[in-house]
Amino acid sequence: MKVGIIIYSQTGHTREVAGLLQQNLAEKGHQASIEEITINGKTPAQPGQFEFLTKPDPVQYDAVIFGSPVQAFNLNPVMRAYLDQLPSLRGKEAACFITKQLPVKWSGGTQAVGKIKSACEAKGAMVKGAEIVFWTEGKRTESINKAVETLGGLF
Ligand SMILES: Cc1cc2nc3c(=O)[nH]c(=O)nc-3n(C[C@H](O)[C@H](O)[C@H](O)COP(=O)(O)O)c2cc1C
Repeated sequence: MKVGIIIYSQTGHTREVAGLLQQNLAEKGHQASIEEITINGKTPAQPGQFEFLTKPDPVQYDAVIFGSPVQAFNLNPVMRAYLDQLPSLRGKEAACFITKQLPVKWSGGTQAVGKIKSACEAKGAMVKGAEIVFWTEGKRTESINKAVETLGGLF
């Protein structure tokens, strides 16, 4: 299956998980590519305060996995704006992961994956899974491995 891993990453955590996921999917026989959303300048506090430099087009993929950091207890505003402008995902399978620092509930993880899932569903995709990666010391490796194994086995 042709799988696109479409990510936004500010400090590299989400990119690192995407790389491991790409390897995992390739080992399972998928053709997996990572594509990054990029903007001019630094990550803003709100959607609409930046311009996209690259906006990956999901049209060529059978399945798309979106990856993003949490920011201020919510989905990062760059990924929010990207999802808003997506074309139809009808007929595609989808999944997502987010990376975050705080290891506690009510710190944005559920909110962030919920936003990605509902955006994908609104565009007609069938969402097959969503993972939260905790970048917290002591929890990180286990959390990354779980997310990569789970997402890598979805398609
Ligand atoms: C401005 C800012 C706000 C953040 N807000 C949260 C938050 O609300 N909850 C959380 O768990 N982590 C928060 N983080 C931590 C990031 O989500 C975490 O480090 C993430 O893995 C970064 O991913 P990246 O390296 O791909 O950009 C925040 C980081 C930044 C820079």
